[in-house]
Amino acid sequence: MQKRTTLRGIAAATLTLGLGLAGSQALAADPIKIGLILPMTGQQATTGRQIDAAVKLYLAQNGNTIAGRKVEVIVKDDATVPDTTRRLAQELVVQEKVVALAGFGITPAAMATAPIATQSKTPMVVMAAATSAITEASPFVVRTSFTLPQAAVAMAEWANKNKIKKVVTLVSDYAPGIDAERYFADRMVLNGGTVVDKLRTPLRSPDFAPVLQKVRDAAPEALYVFLPSGQGAAFMKQFAERGLDKAGIRLIGTGDITDDDQLNDMGDVALGVVTAHHYSANHKSAANQKFVDAFKKANNGMRPNFMAVGGYDGMRVIMEALKVTKGAGGEALLNAMKGQVFESPRGQVLIDAQTRDIVHDMYFRKVERVGGELHNVEFDAIKAMKDPGKQK
Ligand code: PHB
Repeated sequence: MQKRTTLRGIAAATLTLGLGLAGSQALAADPIKIGLILPMTGQQATTGRQIDAAVKLYLAQNGNTIAGRKVEVIVKDDATVPDTTRRLAQELVVQEKVVALAGFGITPAAMATAPIATQSKTPMVVMAAATSAITEASPFVVRTSFTLPQAAVAMAEWANKNKIKKVVTLVSDYAPGIDAERYFADRMVLNGGTVVDKLRTPLRSPDFAPVLQKVRDAAPEALYVFLPSGQGAAFMKQFAERGLDKAGIRLIGTGDITDDDQLNDMGDVALGVVTAHHYSANHKSAANQKFVDAFKKANNGMRPNFMAVGGYDGMRVIMEALKVTKGAGGEALLNAMKGQVFESPRGQVLIDAQTRDIVHDMYFRKVERVGGELHNVEFDAIKAMKDPGKQK
């Protein structure tokens, strides 16, 4: 305690001195640190790879100095283990004195870290995880990914419009899957449809064979699916192997299952799959074209997916807020993140000042072959959609 007080005293003195000697060498040498915790290994490693690349691209394009100080992003690998995420966050706050925490590949990682953000008053920018409740877990959480209720409600509206009445749902059995199931099923029923079965697969090493047999037996008009980024290709393979693509059951879902990271290798089974999501690498705008070209150029041709966009926009939100606070963290930094409006590669976005959640367009997309490659081609949208999870 004694030591901490002394350190705080020194920090305050340094700050006063620094302000007195604006632009002094000593202050200029002090970096502004951001802790980026990602699954760089383990089941969600593709998410880590995409976000890390996007954050680096943002800084390369927009510069990495604020008020004459270098911004240093410290990347930590939580290996998709929430207890590790929490420990790393604690270390980054206490030892590295980061002004912001960012990343969070899965909901349990974000939930485990939220209390640390609250206690230390450190803004926590969620770039990947998408369960509605995450932003309510701490007043310091700001989200730049999306929410499952946004994609789920949009998809149910599309199904209703297209006279799809009898469906089966299949989701990953953890928080975002529960959101994806509940918000889709509730809206289907509200619109007069029927959900004849609700199937769930484990987050770790799922085997789709048993559930796909149940889908075949139930013979719905459509199967609606949410699986976390990275599981789509394995699912599509089994869907085709079991002949479900030929059985007249339409495949629909949240855009996580036709993830741009894997889509091009999924083959013909993916053709015609309709999903609702906030980002497609195929989104038609000058800003997106620039983003996709630069991302591919910097990463050996890797196509950015929706995780990359969450990372790119998250870095934007942090950097613009740091400009306002001139490098200071805490509540001031959080407040400077709230209400930001900007053009993302996904389209226009807003960080809702009340909920700290993202408001953006939910697009309807169909997988098509474009120039020899499989793409999510957007054909309609619900504009400026808020998280339905916050409108209870
Ligand atoms: C999550 O755990 O919140 C999550 C992970 C991957 C996704 C979506 C949500 O694609």
